Amino acid sequence: MALSLAGKFSLCLVLMLASRPLHAASRNLPEASIQQKHEQWMAEHGRVYADSEEKVKRLEIFADNLRFIEDFNRAGNHTFELGLNAYSDRTSEEFLQFSTGLLLPSTPRQKKTSFMYENITHIPDSMDWVAKGAVNAIKNQGRCGSCWAFSAVAAIESITQIKTGKLLELSEQQLVDCTTGNYGCAGGWMDTAFDYIIQNGGITSETNYPYNASDGICHAPTASSSVAKLVGYEDVPANNEGEILKAVAMQPVSVALDGSGREFQLYSSGVFNGNCGTAMSHAVAIVGYGTAEDGTKYWKIRNSWGKTWGEAGYMKIQRDFAQPEGLCGLAMHASYPVV
Ligand SMILES: *[C@@H]1O[C@H](CO)[C@@H](O)[C@H](O)[C@H]1NC(C)=O
Ligand SMILES: *[C@@H]1O[C@H](CO)[C@@H](O)[C@H](O)[C@H]1NC(C)=O
Ligand SMILES: *[C@@H]1O[C@H](CO)[C@@H](O)[C@H](O)[C@H]1NC(C)=O
Repeated sequence: MALSLAGKFSLCLVLMLASRPLHAASRNLPEASIQQKHEQWMAEHGRVYADSEEKVKRLEIFADNLRFIEDFNRAGNHTFELGLNAYSDRTSEEFLQFSTGLLLPSTPRQKKTSFMYENITHIPDSMDWVAKGAVNAIKNQGRCGSCWAFSAVAAIESITQIKTGKLLELSEQQLVDCTTGNYGCAGGWMDTAFDYIIQNGGITSETNYPYNASDGICHAPTASSSVAKLVGYEDVPANNEGEILKAVAMQPVSVALDGSGREFQLYSSGVFNGNCGTAMSHAVAIVGYGTAEDGTKYWKIRNSWGKTWGEAGYMKIQRDFAQPEGLCGLAMHASYPVV
C-alpha cells in the first residue's frame, strides 16, 4: 500500500509541474546584463535549451534566482553566502522534485537499535573525514530522487576505508534498482538500503554497476560480486546532536534533513543557518565538524549535487542548534552502517 501511495504522490508532482502555466513569455525580458550573465552561466555549465520558449522561461527563473542571491548577499548580515550553481535555472520546486529524494513513509524506524558509541569519551574538538582520506570525490545524483542511496553509499565507503584503508567507489545504482521497500528515483530511506545490503550479502562497485540517474531493473548482483559488506547499522538516538557528535567522531553518519528551502539550494559558502523546517526531504552524510573563527559550531555535510553547489559540494551547517531536532531537522534520523 505504501508503495502505490508513493507512486501516486510523485506522479502528482510531475503532473502539477507539467500543467503549470508559462508566465515567462508574457512578461518583459530581464535586463541585458542579466541576459549576459545567463549566457555566461549557460556556457559555463554546458546548458542547451530545446527551443527559445524554453530559454525565455529558464532566463526568467535564472533572473529571479540571481536577484534573490544578490539581495541576500548585499544585506551582508549573514554567516553564509548564496551563489549560482548548476541548478540556477530551476525553481525551488523543481529542485525539490528532481534533486532530493527522501520519502516520508509512516515510520522509517521499525526497530530500536543499540548505539555502540554511547559511552565514548574521546571526542576531538574537530574532525574532517575528507582530510583523512576517508571520503570519495563529490558525486551528482542528477535528475533522480536518489539522495538516500548517495547518503548510504557515502557512509559505507567511509567506514570501509576507516576499517580497511581502502577507499572504494560503491554502486548507488544497485541500491536504486534493487532495494525493495525504497522507491528508486522516487525516494527512499538509508536504513532500508542498509537492510538490503545486509540481506544481499554486500554491495558491488560503481564500475560493476554504474550510476545512470534513472530507475532500472535490478541485475540482482550476488554476494560474490560484492566488494563491501555490512554486518548491520545503528540509529543514533534521535534529537540529540551530542549523540551524533560521538558517532561522527568515529565515522561519517547518514542524516535526513529539510533541503527544500531556497537558501539551502542556493548556498555557496560559510556556516549555513538559513531558513528551513523539519519536513524531511533530502539526505546527506555528515563527514566532520568544527568551529568557525567567530565561534559558531558547524557540521560538515557531503551533498550529492555535484561540485558547483556549496563549498565544492560540501556545506558547513550550524551545529548545536537551539532546538533538539537540529537545524533543518538533521538530528531526527541519523544512522550509520556497521562493517
Ligand atoms: C539582515 O538584514 C535584513 C535587512 O535589513 C533584515 O530583514 C534581516 O532580518 C537581517 N537578518 C539577520 C540575520 O540579522
Ligand atoms: C555504556 O555503559 C553502560 C553503563 O556502564 C552499560 O550498561 C552499556 O552497556 C554501555 N554501552 C556500550 C555500548 O558499551
Ligand atoms: C540504467 O542502468 C540500469 C542498470 O544498469 C538499467 O537497467 C537501465 O536500463 C539504465 N537506464 C538507462 C536510461 O540507461
